Amino acid sequence: MYYRLVIIGLLSAMSSVVMAENLYLQAINEVVLTEQQLVKSQEKVEAHEDIEVKQALAMPPFHKRGKLNTSLEYTACTNCHLDPPHTKSQRSRTFMNMHSQFITCESCHFRPKDKTLDYQWEDVRDGKRIKAKTKLFRQVTSLEEKPEERVKALHSYYKITPFYQGEAAVLRKSSEFSKESQRLWEEGTTDEKIKRRALIHAPLSEKGPECSACHDKEDSLLDLTELGANSYQANKIYNNMIAQFFGRYKEEDSRIRIMRILK
Ligand code: HEC
Ligand code: HEC
Ligand code: HEC
Repeated sequence: MYYRLVIIGLLSAMSSVVMAENLYLQAINEVVLTEQQLVKSQEKVEAHEDIEVKQALAMPPFHKRGKLNTSLEYTACTNCHLDPPHTKSQRSRTFMNMHSQFITCESCHFRPKDKTLDYQWEDVRDGKRIKAKTKLFRQVTSLEEKPEERVKALHSYYKITPFYQGEAAVLRKSSEFSKESQRLWEEGTTDEKIKRRALIHAPLSEKGPECSACHDKEDSLLDLTELGANSYQANKIYNNMIAQFFGRYKEEDSRIRIMRILK
């Protein structure tokens, strides 16, 4: 078939050790692109513009800007996406960019329906799993603990990551597949870019989960206790006022009263 793409050979030839590919790469290998996916990808590639995020502005901005998040350098997603990646939804982009400091892109965007993933902390620099502990959360551990103490204890390289059969289901910048993708993105023909973009996105969900997918104890993607949260932290995260507000008001222009958050 014309659109059947075989990339498995390239991936396995790179390593002498026979290593199982992670679930995301496996899913990419199994993709057989449809005409529709290619047409859509073509539109996206043609409309894509590289926007440069200005670090040093001539005029200091009124609001203090955060630094770029260097922990995002380790995911292949930022080969093409901005840091911070969310720009389109005015309503939620700030929250989603904030979450990408402690949750990998794939936790929200790679959620295959037929597989149960196991969410754990990993160090994105080397992909090593990190033992669950209360300290990994930004959320304070008790009423008495001060938030300032907490923020200092954190490292933004530690992120919640989906695992499957012991392997993180992520697209690391250091993987051969990602290096090849980057090469194509920079030097490939338009056709190659379109196909590669379509392959990478075929297993992903466009939208990402609702807030309630994690902030509602009943059907949460994440088992916060297994990730190390104590019961105070878990309750605070499951009953987060802002996340609940997002569930109730879905319009772009709904407003929340500050008084309600403070209660
Ligand atoms: C080879 C380049 C490339 C890579 C790598 C890449 N993307 Fe994209 N992605 C794009 C382009 C181009 C678009 C279209 C929007 C734009 O121009 O930013 C897009 C769009 C998206 C969208 C919006 C929905 C859609 O399909 O248009 C999501 C969500 C997304 N990417 C997530 C990711 C995630 C998560 C990763 C990493 C696992 C990733 N992308 C890696 C190029 C890439
Ligand atoms: C906590 C969940 C979450 C994480 C983590 C996350 N996303 Fe998203 N993403 C979403 C949701 C929800 C949307 C739908 C639009 C919105 O709410 O901003 C989205 C939309 C997008 C879009 C399309 C809309 C836009 O603003 O361009 C892109 C591209 C994207 N994500 C890329 C990424 C990349 C790259 C990462 C990792 C660096 C990432 N996302 C991490 C939840 C997440
Ligand atoms: C993939 C899971 C996931 C999704 C989806 C998600 N969150 Fe969260 N969110 C978390 C986790 C985990 C924490 C706790 C992080 C910590 O304490 O380190 C959190 C923390 C927060 C916090 C507190 C941050 C702080 O530092 O005090 C707010 C506010 C929040 N989320 C709002 C939202 C909103 C609004 C949405 C939807 C637009 C959303 N979240 C979607 C997992 C998620």
